[in-house]
Amino acid sequence: MSYRIPLIRPYINDRVKELVNEVLDSGFLTEGPVTKSFERSVASYVGVSNAIAFTSCTTGLETALRVAGIGRGDEVIVPDYTYPATAGAVRIVGATPVIVDVDPETLLIDYHQLEEAMSYNTKAVMPVSLFGNPLDFDQLMTLKERYGILIIEDAACALGSSFKGQKTGAWSDMTVFSFHPRKFITTGEGGMVTTPNEQWARALHQYKHFGMGSDDQREGVVFLTTGTNYKMSNILAALGLAQMEIVDDLLNERRVLARNYLQLLDDQEKIKIPLTTENGIHSYQSFAVFVRNRDRIMKQLREQGIEAQIGTYSLHQQPAFQGEGVRLSRQYPGSIRAWEETLVLPMYHSMTEAEQSEVVEKLKACVE
Ligand SMILES: Cc1ncc(COP(=O)(O)O)c(C=O)c1O
Repeated sequence: MSYRIPLIRPYINDRVKELVNEVLDSGFLTEGPVTKSFERSVASYVGVSNAIAFTSCTTGLETALRVAGIGRGDEVIVPDYTYPATAGAVRIVGATPVIVDVDPETLLIDYHQLEEAMSYNTKAVMPVSLFGNPLDFDQLMTLKERYGILIIEDAACALGSSFKGQKTGAWSDMTVFSFHPRKFITTGEGGMVTTPNEQWARALHQYKHFGMGSDDQREGVVFLTTGTNYKMSNILAALGLAQMEIVDDLLNERRVLARNYLQLLDDQEKIKIPLTTENGIHSYQSFAVFVRNRDRIMKQLREQGIEAQIGTYSLHQQPAFQGEGVRLSRQYPGSIRAWEETLVLPMYHSMTEAEQSEVVEKLKACVE
């Protein structure tokens, strides 16, 4: 079904088509120099020494855990309110996700509960900079120093956000972005891991290249470890590279749209806005509000051609995370509220003020 006012629209201009066509004409379709350029553009934008492209955020998360040596017997703490891929990646490498609640206002992992959930087996935390709201690294770095854990950040939605002036992707041991079409920079499907650690960068690259590397003792290609194929083709990288040329323009546009929504929604009794992390700058990958009767309101908006959407999922309520091999907390009030009340509003390139006003007017009418 197509909506008159969609949730998001991929940014595909002539420059994107030009770069994709150049790749098609070159005949070099697999991962190659354009992927390298895309990686370099993300690394330099984020301000980190290494960026390694993947087929998705999910395969990037899995590989990040693998190269950090996390597997069977290890625990990784994740938030309950997130896309299932976060905890799914932990299970795929054989480790145990420990699922804790989120703060009901920021929708980010509850740092106090995170600390309480720490055990002898905790190797890493995988916090999520959800919807583009940056994590509080004052809190996370304190915990990292206190417990010696790794921070592997699921930043699927957070390209362009920052905390205390430093971009998401330059804080954590490894940070993983998504380029799924819901994201404002999209390659159709795709992901990227950033890390300041050279050894992990080499291992990430090696794993997604079938375990291929080089060895001083032998000539040519050598398969040093077991790996797989999670490469990003030149074709998809061309899409991302062309959009990265104007990443700041695209981001500023989203921030202007967000400001406009915030003004239109100011002082609403029945429509509340999640909080942005203090000292953080939101990328507004998703513009979320809290409303009672979310499902009814979402349905009514959709019937009027407005593609409103739920925020994301509450993992402990999903069958996949209810059996063995998961450690759950006793209660999840923050996540349950988020799951029941979060509604994401349309926000896309070249959305007009009139369209935003229409969304807000119809939303207000639905909540009354
Ligand atoms: C928080 C989070 N993590 C992971 C993913 C999965 O990303 P991908 O589709 O690139 O694998 C998503 C998808 O939107 C997400 O929102």
